[in-house]
Amino acid sequence: MSKSVVLVSSIAILLATAAQAQTARTPHPGGPTDRPWLDRHLTPEARAQAAVAAMTLDEKLRLVFGYSDQAVTEVAKVPDATVSPELKSYIVAHAVKGSAGFVPGVPRLGIPDQTQTDASIGVRNSLIPSTALPSSLATAASWDPEVPRAGGAMIGAEARATGHNTMLSGGVNLAREPRNGRNFEYTGEDPLLAGTMAGALIDGIQSNKIVSTMKHFAVNDQETLRTTLDVTMSAEGMRQSDLLAFEFALERGKPGSVMCSYNLINGRWGCENDYLLNTVLKHDWGFKGFVMSDWGAVHSTAAAANDGLDQFTGFCCVSDTPWFGPQRMKAALQSGAIPRRRLDDMVERILWALFAKGVVDNPVHATPIDYAANALVSQRAAEQSLVLLKNDSDLLPLRGVKSIAVIGGNADKGVMAGGGSSDVTPVGGAIMIKGHTFLPSPPLAALAHELPRARIAFDAGADIASAAALAAKSDVAVVFVTQHDNEGYDGHLELEGNQDALVAAVARANPKTIVIIESGGAVFMPWLADVPAVVEAFYPGIRGGPAIARVLTGKVDPSGHLPISFPASPDQLAHPRLAGLGLPDGTPAHVTYNEGAAIGYKWYDVKGYRPLFAFGHGLSYTRFATSGLAARADGKAIHANFSVRNTGQHAGSAVEQVYVAPADWKAAGWEAPKRLGAFAKTALKPGEAKSIEVTVDPRLLATYEAANNNWHVTAGVYRIMLGDSSDAPMQTVDVTVPDSVWSASVAAER
Ligand code: BGC
Repeated sequence: MSKSVVLVSSIAILLATAAQAQTARTPHPGGPTDRPWLDRHLTPEARAQAAVAAMTLDEKLRLVFGYSDQAVTEVAKVPDATVSPELKSYIVAHAVKGSAGFVPGVPRLGIPDQTQTDASIGVRNSLIPSTALPSSLATAASWDPEVPRAGGAMIGAEARATGHNTMLSGGVNLAREPRNGRNFEYTGEDPLLAGTMAGALIDGIQSNKIVSTMKHFAVNDQETLRTTLDVTMSAEGMRQSDLLAFEFALERGKPGSVMCSYNLINGRWGCENDYLLNTVLKHDWGFKGFVMSDWGAVHSTAAAANDGLDQFTGFCCVSDTPWFGPQRMKAALQSGAIPRRRLDDMVERILWALFAKGVVDNPVHATPIDYAANALVSQRAAEQSLVLLKNDSDLLPLRGVKSIAVIGGNADKGVMAGGGSSDVTPVGGAIMIKGHTFLPSPPLAALAHELPRARIAFDAGADIASAAALAAKSDVAVVFVTQHDNEGYDGHLELEGNQDALVAAVARANPKTIVIIESGGAVFMPWLADVPAVVEAFYPGIRGGPAIARVLTGKVDPSGHLPISFPASPDQLAHPRLAGLGLPDGTPAHVTYNEGAAIGYKWYDVKGYRPLFAFGHGLSYTRFATSGLAARADGKAIHANFSVRNTGQHAGSAVEQVYVAPADWKAAGWEAPKRLGAFAKTALKPGEAKSIEVTVDPRLLATYEAANNNWHVTAGVYRIMLGDSSDAPMQTVDVTVPDSVWSASVAAER
C-alpha cells in the first residue's frame, strides 16, 4: 500500500512540475516572464530570489519547518494553531511514507516538496527495499574516491527512483574517539582522507540531481550523551581537524545542505552556533546552501535562526516544541527578534539548493530499480575496501585447500551492518539476530561458491570446544567475528561475548587460522600473535559475502588500507574514559579536546605509541615498489611525483601515501610530527609501472591562526615522505617552502 502511495505522490509531483517546466519553455503569462524562478537560464541565486519575492509569508514559513515520518500519523493530534489543517492533510497526502523527513513545497509556484531519506549506505525507507553499500568507513578504506562516488551515484539513483529528492548522506565527523558508535557512518581519522571520501560520496549522490547533506556539523565525535555534551575545543584545533575534513568535503562534494549536530560546541548548540554556522560555514567557506537541523536538535526560535539554522527538520508530535513552526516564527518576526531579511535568506538558501542541484528542474518520480546491477556496485566497493591486516607466510589466498572450517559471526546467514538511522531495509530482507542487523549475504555460501571442490563445514562458535574440534580436523579455519555499533551510544574495543576466547581456541587447534572482522571500527586483538592472517571487512554491505570470499581466494587482490588507527590498549586513547559514560541521557556533560588536531596516527606519533595497526596499513597479495620521488614547492602548495611498479605476480592496486613533516614540528606550530598530505590509488598489472603526481594542499602545510583568521605556512624545510602506511619505512625528499599567510575566508579572496 505504501509503495503505491510513493508512486502516486511522486507522479503527482512529476505532473505538477512537468507542467511548470512546460510553461518555462513558452514565454507567455505563467511562463518565465511571470515565473522567472522557473527559467533555467537564470542563476540559482537569481531564481531563488525571484521565487522568494513571489512568496507569501505563509509559503516562506512552509519551507523552514520540516516533519518526520511519524508526523504522518501523529500530526493530526497537534493543535491546528501549530500546524494548520491544510498542512496536516498535505503532509499525509504527499510525504513519502517510511522515510526520514518531509518539507512541504509550494505547488502554486512549482516549488517541490522535499522528500528526505537517510543515509550514506543507501536509501532508508522502512517500506521500500534498497541496496546497501559497505559502511562509509569501509569505503574510506578503499582510498579511492571513485569508490564512494560510484556508490553515491548508485544510492542517489535509488533515492530518486523511490521518490526522494534529498539524501541525508555525507557523514564526515572524524574518528577522534575510536569507540564512537557512529564511526562506521564516517570516513576515518584524517581530514584529507575523510573529506575526500565523503565529498566524493556527496558528489556521486548529487549527480542524480538531488540534494545531499553533509553532517553532523560539527565535532559530534561521540554518541554518549550526544544531545547534552558540551565540547570545548580551540578554533585552531577545530580548523586543523574536524572542520578541515568538512571544508574538504564541502569543496569536493558541494552539498546543497549541511546538517548541524546535536552537541554543544564551546557552550553553544550545534544548531545555534554563530561561529560554526555563520562565521565558518557561510562566511569563511562561502556555503550558499542551507543548514538543516538534526532531528530534535533545535532549542530555540530566534537564537537558532539568527545563529545560522535555516530549516528545522523532523517535527513529529504534540510533545515536540515547534521552534520554527509558523506561530513562533511569526511572533519572532513581529517582535523583530528575527529580521524579515533573515527569513528571506533562510528560504533563499533552501531554494538555492533545490535550483542549483537540479531538484526543481528534474522532479523525482518512481522508476524501476535494477537491484542486481546495483548490488554489483556495492560488491565492487567492498572488494576495494577489505583490508588485509596480516598474512604471515602468505597463508592467503586460499589455494588447493581440501577442507575449511568456517566458524562464528553468523557467517552462514549474512554480514553485519551498523544500527541506527543509517540502517536500510536491504533487498532480500534484514536478518535480525539479537537485535543486530545482518544483511543477507552469507560468506559461507560465497566461499562454497568460490571453492566448489573444498569440503566446507560450519560451526556457529557458541560452543568453543566444538568449534576448536572442527578446526583441528580441517586444513584451515576461517573465524568470523562481529562487533555491533549503533547510533545513539558508543561501543567498546573488546570483542563482544566469547569471541576472543573462540579465536584463541581455534588458533590453538589449527595454526592455519584466518580471522575476518566485521566491525564498525577498531577492535582489540589479544590473540593476534597466534593468528597468521587477519582481514578487516568493517561492515561490507549487501554483497559482503562474495567480496570476502573473492578476496580470501585471490579472485580479487586486497587493496584496502586502514582509514583509522587500531589502538593496542585503552591507555593509548586520548580520552581513556568516555565523557559522561554511565550518566542518564539528558544529563549535561562536558569534554575538552585538549589533543586538538592530534587525532589517530598524529596522537600516536606525538606520544610515541605503537598502535596495533597503523593508519594507512594494508597488505596485498602482490608487491609494489616506488622510485624517483621528487617534490617542488609551487607557491603555497607542494607537488610530488614518483613512479610505482607492481613487482609481484598478481594484478593489484597500490595505495601510495605522501606524508609531510616540518623540520621542527613544534616550532612550526603543528599538532604532530607529520600529516597525510596526499594519496593515490593505482591499479597495476604484474610488471606494470605508472608515474604519479600529487599535490599537497597548502592547508595541510599550514597552521590556523585564530587572531587574524589566517592560514600560515612557516618558511623552512619540509620532508616529503612516501610510503604505504603511516608507520612504514618511507622514501623521503626535502623541499624548502617560503613563508606564506592567507585568509581562511573565501570572502576575503573575492
Ligand atoms: C540522525 C541523523 C539522521 C536523522 C534522520 C538523527 O537521529 O542523527 O543522522 O539523518 O536522525 O533520520
